[in-house]
Amino acid sequence: MPVLPELVRSAPKAELHVHIEGTLEPELAFALAARNAVDLGWSDAAALRQAYAFGDLQSFLDLYYACTRVLCTAADFRDLMLAYLARAAADGVVYAEIFFDPQVHAERGVALGTVLDGLCAGLELGRSVHGVEGTLILCFLRHLSEAEAFATLAEARPHLDRIAGFGLDSGERGNPPARFERVFAACRALGKPVVAHAGEEGPAEYVSDALDRLGALRIDHGVRAIDDPLLVQRLVRHGIPLTVCPLSNVRLQVTPELHRNPLQALLDAGVAVTLNSDDPAYFGGYLNANLEAVHQAFDWPLATWQQVLGNAFRASFRPAHWQQARLEHLARHFARA
Ligand code: ADE
Ligand code: ZN
Repeated sequence: MPVLPELVRSAPKAELHVHIEGTLEPELAFALAARNAVDLGWSDAAALRQAYAFGDLQSFLDLYYACTRVLCTAADFRDLMLAYLARAAADGVVYAEIFFDPQVHAERGVALGTVLDGLCAGLELGRSVHGVEGTLILCFLRHLSEAEAFATLAEARPHLDRIAGFGLDSGERGNPPARFERVFAACRALGKPVVAHAGEEGPAEYVSDALDRLGALRIDHGVRAIDDPLLVQRLVRHGIPLTVCPLSNVRLQVTPELHRNPLQALLDAGVAVTLNSDDPAYFGGYLNANLEAVHQAFDWPLATWQQVLGNAFRASFRPAHWQQARLEHLARHFARA
């Protein structure tokens, strides 16, 4: 199978599902561990990479949370963000909505203000050095309690100008969206858009619940929606986007064989599928690596690529006129074919 067409590789893109903590490459992890005198527990970057063999989402999360221990100061978060934006820019990303997990850092005594100072400094630098525009989505950890989510929301209130929206992530099994109904109502009352991970390992019902109970504007992953034809019809009818993460689904054994990933059937049904990298440092690559894998699995024509890449701009939190300008830019790019 030939490599990803250059027109797709170089196309302007939006990424809507990437966890900044999931962009921590082993080399940076060891540099930050040395900077902060943290013992990571692996001898070197190669040994850490060797540990990247995941049986399911939880086995990944255990390692992912362990590695966040090296992120201590605002400078650490700045460097992490800048490193991601450099890689994203190399893949044509011009706009990113980026998740962060403040509760993981709060457990280690790192305040939300420190995390935001660093991430926002990285966003500023990324904009000027790499030309990528980025915004932040604060994620609540679904394995923690509603009370803990409310405490985090209270801590976030003085920083709302630096938070574009709210999300829900972490281990899905046994942690249904319903528990966070009141937290998400409070987020929406603040005028913020909300999204939620659902239907990654959890059932299609969690996708419906994320829509009905949380008011999610889009669903992160959502591939298990395929199990409920009425839900698929609903996603199509209401134009609810899915932020699908192909390499993540392979590495976390959601769909070990990419050509069996429901994303193709969802797309065929008319769902607004977008492609994203999730935790690219852990899953084998950034956005274009995901597109390359999809190309190998499905061999789409250029028109499908233009549609899917366009879906990401349409699914973003940005206003209609901004989306229109990006879609026209994308159309001019593909018109070169
Ligand atoms: N946090 C980081 N990556 C995640 C994923 N794939 N699912 C749920 N929570 C996450
Ligand atoms: Zn995710």
